[in-house]
Amino acid sequence: MSRLLRIKPMSMLSAEAHEEGEHTLKRSLSALNLITLGIGAVIGAGIFVLTGQAAALHAGPAVALSFVLAGFTCAFAGLCYAEFASIIPIAGSAYTYGYATLGELVAWIIGWDLCLEYAFGAATVASGWAGYFNSLLQQFGIYIPPQLTATTGTSLAFYQHQWLPVASLPPGISDAGLPHATGFFNLIAVLIVMVITTILVIGIKESANFNSAIVIVKLGIVGVFLVVGGYFLFQHPAVASANWHPFIPPSDGHGNFGWGGIPTAAASIFFAYIGFDAVSTAAQEAKNPQKDMPIGILGSLVVCTVLYILVSLVLTGLVSYKTLNVAAPVALAIDITGVSWGSMLVKIGAVFGLATVMLVMLLGQSRVFYSMSKDGLLPKWASAIHPKFRTPWITTIVFGAFAAIMPAVFNIDVLSQLVNIGTLLAFTIVCAGVWVLRVRHPKMERPFKTPLVPLVPVLGILSAVYLMSRLSKFTWEVMIVWLLIGLVIYFGYSVKNSKVQALPGVQEGD
Ligand code: ALA
Repeated sequence: MSRLLRIKPMSMLSAEAHEEGEHTLKRSLSALNLITLGIGAVIGAGIFVLTGQAAALHAGPAVALSFVLAGFTCAFAGLCYAEFASIIPIAGSAYTYGYATLGELVAWIIGWDLCLEYAFGAATVASGWAGYFNSLLQQFGIYIPPQLTATTGTSLAFYQHQWLPVASLPPGISDAGLPHATGFFNLIAVLIVMVITTILVIGIKESANFNSAIVIVKLGIVGVFLVVGGYFLFQHPAVASANWHPFIPPSDGHGNFGWGGIPTAAASIFFAYIGFDAVSTAAQEAKNPQKDMPIGILGSLVVCTVLYILVSLVLTGLVSYKTLNVAAPVALAIDITGVSWGSMLVKIGAVFGLATVMLVMLLGQSRVFYSMSKDGLLPKWASAIHPKFRTPWITTIVFGAFAAIMPAVFNIDVLSQLVNIGTLLAFTIVCAGVWVLRVRHPKMERPFKTPLVPLVPVLGILSAVYLMSRLSKFTWEVMIVWLLIGLVIYFGYSVKNSKVQALPGVQEGD
């Protein structure tokens, strides 16, 4: 048993953090690169797709309060991530933190669990991306066979020159009499993941520059939505007032709407925040990780929280929340303002913006597996660095292929819920880890200190567990099966090949 609790020594972690050479990752990212990496990972399918659905199905205009609730959960966890990232600035994120504090088995569980976050996260966003891209193509009169634009079994109908999922037809419109098709394979989602994977294999520096350019476009589009939508609401206060009343619609008795609908929606739109923690996976590629990691993590979180609350208020002010259960809700809302180019601009922005989210997710995934392989917990191929590009290319390609197939066959709701539960579990473990490390190593140098320990970690744990409790039974079951598969690999392979296990008598953190 004590073998499973072995901790990776701090001395080993520091040595890795300072490694240089041709088989290591390049240190090329500045603080600004890290903030843009964070925003690039965060603003995506959550705000562009899932917010509309959460308003329509769970909370109404009060989805803005759901953002406040989920934002607090992320802030508690973000403060804990920032402390860890400043102490242990190497690739691997929560996995590495868990290894240094809670032992090898817990570290394995987090690393495996992070797959749910990053690989399935990229898959979720690819699904949202495909929805916006297809909608854009159709706006230009280009029609891909509908069977190749949706997940297996999705029922589609042709309405107002567009193929739409039947479930997304506006309220009161029946699909009877409309042309029908059934989704077979979401080819668009597969192709975009393949493109992103290729960019990542070519290199982190190039990827960071590509990311920074697109983040500017993405923030610009969100800004345009807020200005155009906000101005319209200012000019038409009666529209805003009609759509915002009641701000908290009456409960349906099934956990939707009313006060209970706010946390239900929060568990769903939590997805919109995911990604700021991915900044920590790039710690080994940061120029000055001690100072810049906390800035990157907390900076991107604050910017996104403010934008989300504003976007959700404008969105639900422009149109009735009941109409927002569509693939492109932000484009639908801006149409109301009468600005003819608005919807096209939002779609183009979403297409570029969601691409950067996939980029950071897949980047995070490959870096976690890189770290696990370096530690001997996964086979050597997972940390093989390309001789020319200096990127972990094999693991990038393997996970790229995995992330490409998922959105082809599973829909965005199923995928996003899995990502949420995986991430909330990682948050819980990271918060616990900060507290444990404070108790075990009170004197350790901490360039960034989480305030009010243990209060902040405890609130982080409680809020993450509360949001997990609002997710479906099916999501819980898949997570448990996923973790069991991970344990089989751990006991079948990792425990025998672990480098830390091979160290004589390592029990302490330093
Ligand atoms: N937060 C990211 C998104 O909303 C994952 O797409």
